[in-house]
Amino acid sequence: MKKVFIETYGCQMNEYDTELVKAILKNEDYEFASSAEEADVVLLNTCSIRENANRKVYNRIHQIQHRRNGNGVKIGILGCMATNFRKQLLDNPRLPIDFISGPDSYKRLPNLIEQTEETGGKGFDVTLSEFETYSDIYPTRESGINAWIAVMRGCDNFCTFCVVPYTRGRERSRSPESVVAETQRLAAEGFKQVTLLGQNVNSYKHADKDFAYLLEKVSEVEGIERIRFISPHPKDFPVSLLKVIVENPKVCKHIHLPVQSGNDRILEAMNRTYTQAEYLSLVDNIRVLNPDIVLTTDIIVGFPTETDQEFEDTYKLMQQVEYDSAFIFKYSERPQTISKRKFPDDISDQKKTERIVCLNELQNEISYKKNQAHIGQIHEVLIEEESTKKSENDFKGRNDGSKIVIFPKGPYGRGQFVDVEIIDTTALVLKGKVVSIAG
Ligand code: 5AD
Ligand code: SF4
Repeated sequence: MKKVFIETYGCQMNEYDTELVKAILKNEDYEFASSAEEADVVLLNTCSIRENANRKVYNRIHQIQHRRNGNGVKIGILGCMATNFRKQLLDNPRLPIDFISGPDSYKRLPNLIEQTEETGGKGFDVTLSEFETYSDIYPTRESGINAWIAVMRGCDNFCTFCVVPYTRGRERSRSPESVVAETQRLAAEGFKQVTLLGQNVNSYKHADKDFAYLLEKVSEVEGIERIRFISPHPKDFPVSLLKVIVENPKVCKHIHLPVQSGNDRILEAMNRTYTQAEYLSLVDNIRVLNPDIVLTTDIIVGFPTETDQEFEDTYKLMQQVEYDSAFIFKYSERPQTISKRKFPDDISDQKKTERIVCLNELQNEISYKKNQAHIGQIHEVLIEEESTKKSENDFKGRNDGSKIVIFPKGPYGRGQFVDVEIIDTTALVLKGKVVSIAG
């Protein structure tokens, strides 16, 4: 039996794909090694969203080569770098890569591995499909509290900075029936929470069924107590969807609403399809329905041609919205993208650093202030795991707004709901003590 080791980089979709790949290989009688050193085949499921994601993978390939020199290990590259850097990966004689397989080709992976072994050549399959959703494969998951379910794949938005439409192809959605069936199976296995995944999860569309419908259907599955979803696009939030999020008690009160920039010229250059005013009006509509909903965002600083004044608009928007947290990135030029073809990457790294530091400082203040406002409140928390970072004596869970809550261990455990009184916070986490145990 061949032993495989898979390492995953990048987003949750990649984590999910690794679970799919495990199921596919298990079916072909592969075993799983617990480290790259013990494996016959090492698979790196890669990300290509920013240059530093690529760099990590190149470093890792060299490290494996160094440690396993002459040891006959086969190295395969999966995921977004496979589609985006096929030529660079295969043509570089210094890279010991045996095969590469893109995100829509995983069913053919066992054949690819076999072929490579037989011929000794470098195999690849990076064809992107308009139909592949893997809905017939039940991923091999670690048992736990939360399970991820990819409900749609690919992206049709073509934000000018983003490589995903090129690495993962066109949007396609699974049927609601297949998602519900998977959720039922997960509930039967003891999972309490599902997170619905998609590159634009709220663009989910299957025949005449939309994402609001899907959320409702998934929420009807008994045993699943909480539903989350990532990552949505602000363009696809009809009132019907906002209502389900706000009114359905199983749907978590957290919306990740990537804004990217607060300036209209930059938003247009990014092809985000909304203006600052339209985005802010969506935020208002959400907060009218539920003023306490947790809002988080993604922001890119140093998009080509972004002036100090345009950056200032992003700063002001963050002050105005007061997100609970924000992921802030420096613009990274990606191959194939429209922004690479259209604009020079003309903002210096130093400027990008200044801008990212400035926004992170602002966001830290806001996050801390928002978290401090929770002190004295009681939050229902789903216990996820031991919190090993600061103390072995703590559990870690999340409240309904996806915020991490840390509290001392007691007569309760993973998968249980507890009511926690918040007594202290940082900008990142809430800390508290259990006041009652649910159920
Ligand atoms: N450079 C920097 N950040 C990017 N993102 C996507 N593409 C790039 C890029 N080329 C960010 C966006 C997106 C998040 C997942 O990654 O903010 O929402
Ligand atoms: Fe990285 Fe984007 Fe691919 Fe996820 S979809 S692995 S974030 S490039």
